[in-house]
Amino acid sequence: MSTALHVARASRVWWEHAADEYQAEHGGFLRDTGFVWGPEGLVEADAGLLGPVDELRGARVLELGCGAGQCSRWLRTHGVEHVVGVDVSHRQLQHARRIDEQTGVEVATAQTDVQSLPFAAGAFDLVCSAFGGLPFVPDAGAALTEAARVLRPGGRLVFSVSHPMRWCFPDEPGERGLTAEQSYFDRRAYVEEDAAGRALYVEHHHTTGDWVRAIASADLVLRDLVEPEWPGSNQQTWGGWSPLRGRLFPGTAIFAAAKPERRAAGGL
Ligand SMILES: C[S@@+](CC[C@H](N)C(=O)[O-])C[C@H]1O[C@@H](n2cnc3c(N)ncnc32)[C@H](O)[C@@H]1O
Repeated sequence: MSTALHVARASRVWWEHAADEYQAEHGGFLRDTGFVWGPEGLVEADAGLLGPVDELRGARVLELGCGAGQCSRWLRTHGVEHVVGVDVSHRQLQHARRIDEQTGVEVATAQTDVQSLPFAAGAFDLVCSAFGGLPFVPDAGAALTEAARVLRPGGRLVFSVSHPMRWCFPDEPGERGLTAEQSYFDRRAYVEEDAAGRALYVEHHHTTGDWVRAIASADLVLRDLVEPEWPGSNQQTWGGWSPLRGRLFPGTAIFAAAKPERRAAGGL
C-alpha cells in the first residue's frame, strides 16, 4: 500500500471512532452554520480570506475534510449554492446529515480522500479547508497538486493547518506544552499503532518552508499566510491549543494561494 493510501486508511479509521466525541466536544464552538478557521476562533465572517462572500454566490466551491460540514453550511447560508464538502470519514458525514436536518440547510457531500479527488480538472472556482485532511498528509506537494488540479485557472485555494512550529512542543495545553522537546526539522511522522502494528493515527509534519514549496510545486501562487492571534475573549482549550500557549506562539497557519490565469498563446 502506498504511504498516501496507508495514511488515508489510518485517518478514516481514526475519524470513524473520533467523530462523535469531536462533534460533542467542539460542535458548539464550530457552530452548525459557522466557518471557523481554527481553535483561536477566527471566523471567516471577520477574516474575509475567501473574499467578499457576495462575490462567491455563483462560485463552485469545494471544502476538503469538511467534517460535519459547518464551513460549507456557512457558505450555503450566505447564498453560495454550489458547495460540495468531502471527507474520508463516513461518521463525520453522518453528523453533517444530522445537522442538515436540524438546520434545514443541506450540504452536498462525498466520502473521499483529499489526496485523490473524484472531480474533473477545473471543476471548482474555490477550494477551502479548515484543518480538513491536509494536516495529516505525507506529501504536501502531491495533496496541493491534487487540489490545484480541480481548480480552474484563476481559482483560489485557502486552507488552514496546524502551525508548523507546534511540532517541537508536546501537544499539551499547560506549562509542559511551552518547552520545545523535539526538532522543528524532524520530519518523521507521529504514528500511533494497534497491537498488530497497524497505524491508528498518523500525522505528518511539514515546516513552513515545506508548505511554501508545496504551493509552488502545485503551480499555485502564495497570496497570504495568516497566523491568527489568540484573542483574550477565547478561554477555551482545544487539545494542545490553549490561551496560555496561544499568547506566546501561533497554533494555526492559514495559507491563501491562487492558480494563475492561463497565459495567452505567445504571451510572456
Ligand atoms: C480536525 S477535523 C476538521 C473538520 C472540519 N473542517 C472542522 O473544522 O470541524 C479533520 C477532518 O479531516 C478529515 N480527514 C482526515 N484525513 C482525511 C483525508 N485524507 N481525506 C479527507 N478527509 C480527511 C477527518 O475525517 C476530519 O473530519
